[in-house]
Amino acid sequence: MKVHTRGGNDAVEEPFEKPVVLPEQDDQDPARHAWADARFATDIMAEHGIFFALLMPPEVAERERQQALQFSESFAQLHKKIDATAPPDRGDLQRFTSEVVEAMKPFIEYKATLGDAQRNGTLRSLVWPLFFDHTRHEAERWSRRLEQLGGGESELDRKEVAEFWDNIMEEHARFVVHLLDPDEFEVIQKAAEASRVFARLGAGGPGGAAAAFLAEPGTVAKALTDHPETSAVLSAAETILDFKTQAARDVEAARVKSIIDPRLADHVRREALKFVDELKRAV
Ligand SMILES: [Fe+2]
Ligand SMILES: [Fe+2]
Repeated sequence: MKVHTRGGNDAVEEPFEKPVVLPEQDDQDPARHAWADARFATDIMAEHGIFFALLMPPEVAERERQQALQFSESFAQLHKKIDATAPPDRGDLQRFTSEVVEAMKPFIEYKATLGDAQRNGTLRSLVWPLFFDHTRHEAERWSRRLEQLGGGESELDRKEVAEFWDNIMEEHARFVVHLLDPDEFEVIQKAAEASRVFARLGAGGPGGAAAAFLAEPGTVAKALTDHPETSAVLSAAETILDFKTQAARDVEAARVKSIIDPRLADHVRREALKFVDELKRAV
């Protein structure tokens, strides 16, 4: 297993950086992938619960806030348990992935129900409907991935990887736009540009990449001229990872003014890192 850090070395930028542990590049063992993805996704779910709670003032959403904290706590415990144990034996793989998939189900339901409630005004929290949808799509995708791994299959499909993560990266960029201090003109513009790049890449295929190139030449131009469409996605993914790593450091050091919790900044950075890693493995 390889430990991925922001700086690419052994140093972890305390207290907010969480290293990502992933199988080696040529490792296709479904059990090690299942362990790594379960370890990654359970921590992501624990953090979704924290982010919801941060955006649910007790005055308007006390019950929903308590539920969010309960989900966070149970996923944190599951994460801790996985982190403390070795990857499952092949005979135990199905049970291992099922435990995580089952834990996701009520949280997916919670995100769907509250997303609707926030949309129709019966819930007045500070969680955008899109944030409920976004985090639900992540939980659904991790469920699909873990079910696949539980069945002994580790192969990643390039089209699935690109489509899922393009959309996630596009939404992250818009989240950042709306969480920055309105005075941060330059960073807001950069995030908005990133959103447009992923929106166009998400349109799919060579047309998507070409449209992204025309819209924002700086981001994907080089990869597109070197190798057409496929590497444009990788180039954009690596660019957004660099942007998020810088943003996390800037938020932590308060060089950028925002209402971005440093834990959220590192969360979206790790998701970008996962995108880059999956893209390099995908066929
Ligand atoms: Fe997430
Ligand atoms: Fe996300």
